[in-house]
Amino acid sequence: MASSGGSPPAVEVTDLVKRYPGCTTAAVDGLSFTVAPGEIFGLLGPNGAGKSTTIGILTTRLRASAGRALVGGIDVVGDPVAARAQLAVVPQHNNLDRSLTPRQNLLYHAAYHGVGRAVRNARADALLDRFGLTDRADKRIEAYSGGMVQRLMIARALIHEPAVLFLDEPTNGLDPQSRRLIWSRIREMRGRGVTVVLTTHQMNAAAALVDRVGIVDHGRLLTLDTPGNLVKGLAGRSILDLTVTPAALDEPDELLRALSEVSGVRKSERLAAAAPPGAVAAKLRSGLGLGGGSGFGAGAPAALTALTALARERAVATLAPDPGGRERVRIRLHLAADPAAVLGPALTVLTTRLATLTDVHIAEPSLEDVFIGLTGRDPR
Ligand SMILES: Nc1ncnc2c1ncn2[C@@H]1O[C@H](COP(=O)(O)OP(=O)(O)OP(=O)(O)O)[C@@H](O)[C@H]1O
Ligand SMILES: [Mg+2]
Repeated sequence: MASSGGSPPAVEVTDLVKRYPGCTTAAVDGLSFTVAPGEIFGLLGPNGAGKSTTIGILTTRLRASAGRALVGGIDVVGDPVAARAQLAVVPQHNNLDRSLTPRQNLLYHAAYHGVGRAVRNARADALLDRFGLTDRADKRIEAYSGGMVQRLMIARALIHEPAVLFLDEPTNGLDPQSRRLIWSRIREMRGRGVTVVLTTHQMNAAAALVDRVGIVDHGRLLTLDTPGNLVKGLAGRSILDLTVTPAALDEPDELLRALSEVSGVRKSERLAAAAPPGAVAAKLRSGLGLGGGSGFGAGAPAALTALTALARERAVATLAPDPGGRERVRIRLHLAADPAAVLGPALTVLTTRLATLTDVHIAEPSLEDVFIGLTGRDPR
């Protein structure tokens, strides 16, 4: 995170509230946070959490019902024109002017912000090049793909060289190529000292990119910290995913209960249906070193190597041929202990109950686990 060096925060939100007319609940409900100059800040939250509404207020598109929002020390309500000169926004939905060509969209936006003709022409050329749009700069926008539209909207946002850039789901619905280009351009902005506030549902990308993350839900801030610290808050909480086929006379829920009683298991749950049998069986054979390569690489921690050996030892019982037509269940065990201490007893439960194990996966907690832990599993 960049130091503020005595300058005001790039973004300062205090007790912000937004009630849409006719709605009983507030879309933003007392939100407060600051973003330091030069910081890349992620605003994460489930659908409807209030992210776009917050960005709408900060970028002067929407008016808050209560509270204060400053950008570069300027009150967005008190002096929206001065605030707009400091900031740029790439909204969640395409708002390019279709009656203009891509290049004209950039030039028009620059002119609106008072950028002189020669400078705006040079910047438009440079931005079209940086976002891979030079070839299509003078074509009709209707012919643009989703990725091109998004790249053009970011280029347009940058043409007046804003100090603070708001990106509302900049990579939503894009292919991996466009996503990579956009994430790498955002990383470059850090080098140029631009403050970036972004929303995204791509947790891995956010964890890798942002300095700090605020998780919001129902218009309220649930937590705010670096991705590293948020994940560390779940320290020691590994996840053990097992794909199993219970014995013919066993009940999946009974098996789940038996596994949840293994020492070191904090919580257990059934996940959605498993992948096709062939795929998981092949993966496990490879993962246990029974086929070609070992799933646990040479650099695997000793604990994992020991687990692999143990699982291999029990492979005769756990890798029985696919039992015809019986349901596979995916079980997730949330651990409060080292996976090495849990996997052995868990395998004992499976072998004792004559269950067939077809996949084992040990995962460290991620930002997505923090997110789900705070906001729940239910879709909005
Ligand atoms: N113009 C509007 N009028 C009434 N309610 C609105 C309006 N815009 C948004 N809302 C409501 O306000 C809440 C917050 O919406 P918002 O778009 O800010 O969420 P979001 O976090 O950006 O969600 P998403 O991840 O789906 O983009 C939602 O309940 C939404 O239905
Ligand atoms: Mg939104």
